[in-house]
Amino acid sequence: MNNTQPIGFIDSGVGGLTVIKEAMKQLPNENMIYLGDTARCPYGPRPAEQVVAYTWEMTRFLMKQGIKMLVIACNTATAVALEEISKELPIPVIGVIASGTRAAVKATKNQQIGIIGTVGTVNSQSYEQAIKSRVASATVFSLACPKFVPLVESNQTNSPIAKKIVAETLQPLQNKKIDTLILGCTHYPLLRPIIQNVMGKDVQLVDSGAETISEVSMLLDYFSLVSLNTPEPGKLVCYTTGSTKMFDEIANTWLERTDIQSKQIQLGDA
Ligand code: DGL
Repeated sequence: MNNTQPIGFIDSGVGGLTVIKEAMKQLPNENMIYLGDTARCPYGPRPAEQVVAYTWEMTRFLMKQGIKMLVIACNTATAVALEEISKELPIPVIGVIASGTRAAVKATKNQQIGIIGTVGTVNSQSYEQAIKSRVASATVFSLACPKFVPLVESNQTNSPIAKKIVAETLQPLQNKKIDTLILGCTHYPLLRPIIQNVMGKDVQLVDSGAETISEVSMLLDYFSLVSLNTPEPGKLVCYTTGSTKMFDEIANTWLERTDIQSKQIQLGDA
């Protein structure tokens, strides 16, 4: 294994770019390949078997590009496919749920933790189980927010409609006395200022995707896979199954770049 081989990141759409942003900060020497299955986004409402099948299609595409590690930068896919994929791949595979759980358990003072995610992630109860297995006395409030991902994918994260939808959707969490809220979908950090505003400054938001990069960094060390002393910063190559125009607009704004030009690929029935 050559350490300059890229790390692969997959998501149902642009959400995993929130993980890439943190990776670019913590791991600037690493080459990275990102694949967003935008044409089939959202994964959240889909049956688990379909999400597993789509995640495998993305994984196979990136394996052909010679990745040295795979990050499933999608909570919905992590919840249903991480175990199977990590067993079968010859490279390290990392999901986003364990890191988010650890960060939330560390952050909470009153053991009242909220988790927002897609219908798939919430129904899987993955966060709930992971938190409870560490802190049995914790109370976990889970809430599916199916309207959030379409706002992000259509680049409407600052719109008045986004503010209205976020405020209405998070209403059920308002009187739960949570002091920590897990953003259990990698799309949600793009709505972070609005979410923080609605929940109030006393609620600590945990960005599972960003937390995952500390684990990626640790595992690169553990497996001696770190790309060290490269003459230039690492490169980011992006693929999408959907519109490159919309993808590039969101990617360049979010990552504060101007040079990202994604390539369109086709996967399965996408
Ligand atoms: N970004 C994804 C997640 O973290 C899923 C969004 C979706 O496709 O529903 O769960």
